[in-house]
Amino acid sequence: MKVLLIRGNPRKDGFTQRLTDRFAAGVREAGASLTDVDLTSAAIQPCLGCFHCWLVQSGQCVHTDAMNDLLPCVLDADVLVCATPVYFFSMSSYLKAFFERLFPLSAEGVEESGLGFLRNRLREPDRWRNKKFISIVVGALPGTKPYEPVNQTFRLIADTLNMELGGQLTRPESHLLPYKFSKPKTLKLVDAAFFKAGREAGNTGRLAGKTMEEAGLPLAASESHFRMYSNIYWEHARALGAHSTNLNALHERVGADPDILMREMARTCNPQATARLRAVLQFDFPDQDRHYRLTVNHGRCELQPVTTEQPDLRVTCATDVWVALFTRQLNVIDALRQRKIVLAGDKNLFTKLDRYFPPPAA
Ligand SMILES: Cc1cc2nc3c(=O)[nH]c(=O)nc-3n(C[C@H](O)[C@H](O)[C@H](O)COP(=O)(O)O)c2cc1C
Repeated sequence: MKVLLIRGNPRKDGFTQRLTDRFAAGVREAGASLTDVDLTSAAIQPCLGCFHCWLVQSGQCVHTDAMNDLLPCVLDADVLVCATPVYFFSMSSYLKAFFERLFPLSAEGVEESGLGFLRNRLREPDRWRNKKFISIVVGALPGTKPYEPVNQTFRLIADTLNMELGGQLTRPESHLLPYKFSKPKTLKLVDAAFFKAGREAGNTGRLAGKTMEEAGLPLAASESHFRMYSNIYWEHARALGAHSTNLNALHERVGADPDILMREMARTCNPQATARLRAVLQFDFPDQDRHYRLTVNHGRCELQPVTTEQPDLRVTCATDVWVALFTRQLNVIDALRQRKIVLAGDKNLFTKLDRYFPPPAA
């Protein structure tokens, strides 16, 4: 299977790049041949709409740029995969220019398409038969509605080029992808789904419904959760300023933010396990000079970023220690034995934290 992957994302350390890299790894694992093209360094001119390729020199564009080499690759490919961030409900202009410049592969005259529309005749119809098309779109907004226009455009493009729609991967809430505390299992599923999709593309050119569903699984628990986390993401990005283009640095900052960790703790408070509990828990992270009070009151939990003089339990540790504990990468007994955590007050309460604040299940 020959897979041609066309990337239309300008940010080389962004979410589209990362997820598409996973997809590409899956294609390679399937043993398919992969041609991986970055459009954004190819300086492809937009179409001039002059119809030179139809009327003056059949199949020849007036521009001479990277598309000269790309057109034969498109004709050769068994599977065409296009990856793009969502910009204004559509694909990036790099990818748009690529599609415009496929025009020399079509010719004057119309015929009926598979979906029942009229489409331009294809210059070499045999080269398009049995070709599959897969789209990968990555956007910031939650839900599925904001992605309908771009996905519909891709459906129509596949139809107008007589390609079978092999599948569509839609990844909303891109900026929530670094939030490892909120839905660790879902994040793993999303990552695995992009890899699996690559394998499926490399094997058959068709994506399984389950794979597409997993790639798009929601990350935010609700709209307000989405807004809050989206804002926290941008606060960190702003603090990094010009360095925010380094997504690894941004991930680290977001991933180590005790604000997020404590919010997640408050959110995961188990109402049944805490139904009879009234307690004030104080968490101090001296390395970041952050202090949080968790007030548990008969199944409800309130978080405040303040210090408390006499809490029922005070937990003092470095932020990364609490991160490791919350994500169950560090054992509580070991942490206590190694004096990574200092407790004061009702230590019995501490032993029950696991039950009161179970790790996120999804
Ligand atoms: C010019 C521009 C327009 C955007 N328009 C949308 C949009 O319509 N819908 C959406 O969900 N996200 C939109 N976004 C957000 C991006 O899709 C989001 O940041 C995505 O993660 C970008 O991909 P990247 O991380 O690979 O750069 C827009 C971003 C930019 C820069």
